[in-house]
Amino acid sequence: MLPVNRGRAPHRAGMDFTDAKRKPSVLSKVVLALVLTVFCVYILKQSPGIAGTNMFSVHEPGVTHVLVTGGAGFIGSHAALRLLKDNYRVTIVDNLSRGNMAAVKILQGLFPEPGRLQFIYGDLGDTKVVNKIFSENAFDAVMHFAAVAYVGESTLEPLRYYHNITANTLTIMEAMAAHRVKTLIYSSTCATYGEPEKMPITEVTPQVPINPYGKAKKMAEDIILDFSKNSDMAVMVLRYFNVIGSDPEGRLGEAPRPELREHGRISGACFDAARGIIPGLKVRGTDYPTQDGTCIRDYIDVTDLVDAHVKALGKAEPGKVGIYNVGTGRGRSVKEFVEACKKATGVEIKVEYLTRRPGDYAEVYSDPSKINRELNWTAKYTDLQESLSIAWRWQKSHRNGYGTS
Ligand SMILES: NC(=O)c1ccc[n+]([C@@H]2O[C@H](COP(=O)([O-])OP(=O)(O)OC[C@H]3O[C@@H](n4cnc5c(N)ncnc54)[C@H](O)[C@@H]3O)[C@@H](O)[C@H]2O)c1
Repeated sequence: MLPVNRGRAPHRAGMDFTDAKRKPSVLSKVVLALVLTVFCVYILKQSPGIAGTNMFSVHEPGVTHVLVTGGAGFIGSHAALRLLKDNYRVTIVDNLSRGNMAAVKILQGLFPEPGRLQFIYGDLGDTKVVNKIFSENAFDAVMHFAAVAYVGESTLEPLRYYHNITANTLTIMEAMAAHRVKTLIYSSTCATYGEPEKMPITEVTPQVPINPYGKAKKMAEDIILDFSKNSDMAVMVLRYFNVIGSDPEGRLGEAPRPELREHGRISGACFDAARGIIPGLKVRGTDYPTQDGTCIRDYIDVTDLVDAHVKALGKAEPGKVGIYNVGTGRGRSVKEFVEACKKATGVEIKVEYLTRRPGDYAEVYSDPSKINRELNWTAKYTDLQESLSIAWRWQKSHRNGYGTS
C-alpha cells in the first residue's frame, strides 16, 4: 500500500503541479490571443489607411463609390458633402495646389465612419500616380472637378491650362477605361461657347471658345465625346455658368489662395472689398454692348450645381452621353451683382471702373430647359442676394479662408 501510496503521492503531486501550471498557461494564452485580436481590430479601425484601403478597394453591392477629383476645392468639396449626405462612398483626390485640406478635414469630421470618405493626396498630372490610385481603388463613378479655373490666368499661362485641363482629363479617361470605371460626370464650362451671337445659350450653340481656359475645356470635352462613341461608359458633361454661394449650413465656403485674388471671381472680390482686404472693387469693362455696359453673367448657386451632379449621376446610362447647361437662364449684369453684394454684406463697397479684361466676353446666360426636362433639375436655391448673403456669412467668420475662424 505504502509504496503504492508513496508512488502515487508524488505522481499525483506531480500531476497536480503540472495541471496547476498548465491551466493558467492555456488560459493566459487564450487571454493574450484575445487581447491581441482586440488590439489588432482596434488598430485597423483607427487607421483609415489600412481599414479604408480594404473598404475602398472592393465594389460593394448597394454602395456607389465616387472618385471626386479636386474635392478639396470650392465646388468639389460641396459635391463631396452632398454625396456623403446621400450615402455615397467618396474618395477625394487633390494635389492641394488650390484646394484646402481644412475642407477635407471638415468632411472627415462629419463622416468619420469607416468606408465613407478617404482622401488621397495626388497630382493628376502624374500618370503613375493616377494609375496607382485606380488600381488600388474600386470606383463606380468619377466626378472630375480638378482643374485650374481662371480665365484671366489662362491667357497668361496657356500651357499650364492645356496641361492641367486637357492632358489630365486624357490621363483620367485612360485610367477609367483601363479599370472599367462605368460613369463619368465632367465639369465643363460655359466658357467653351465663347461669345455666341444668340442668347440664351443652348447645348447646341456652337462652341467657339475665345480663351485658353475655354479652349482647354472644349478639347477635354472632345476627348471624352470621341472616346464615348465607341464605349459603354455613361458620360454626363455639365457646362456650368458662374458659380456663387456656399453651404447654407456654413460648414464649407469658397477660399481661393490670396495670390489668385487678381484673377479671382467677382464674388470673392466683392467680399474682399466688403471686408476691407482690398480698397474697393474693380469692374473691368463698362463699354460692353449690354444694358448698363457691364458684362452679363448667369450666376448659379453651388447647392443647385451639386444637385445637378447628383441628378446626372442618377440618370447616367451606359453607352450614352448627356450634355447639359447648368445655369438659371437669367443673366445679371456686374452692376446688378455689385448692388446685390452691397445689400448682402451691408457694406457700401467702393467701385472703380476700368478697361476690359483680356479674354472676357460681353453676355452669357443659359437656356436650362434641357436639364430641366431630362434630369428634372431646376435652380431652386439660386437667389443672387440670398446666395451672396449665405456666402458672406461664411466669409465673415473665415477672414483668412479656412485658416482662421
Ligand atoms: N467656379 C466656377 O465658377 C466654375 C465655372 C465653370 C466651371 N468650373 C469648373 O469646376 C471645377 C471646379 O472649380 P472650382 O471653382 O471648385 O475650383 P477650385 O480651384 O476651388 O478647385 C479645383 C481643385 O482642383 C485641385 N487640382 C487642380 N489641379 C490638380 C491636379 N493636377 N491634381 C489634383 N488636384 C488638382 C485644386 O487643388 C483644387 O482643390 C473646375 O473644373 C472648373 O473648371 C468652375
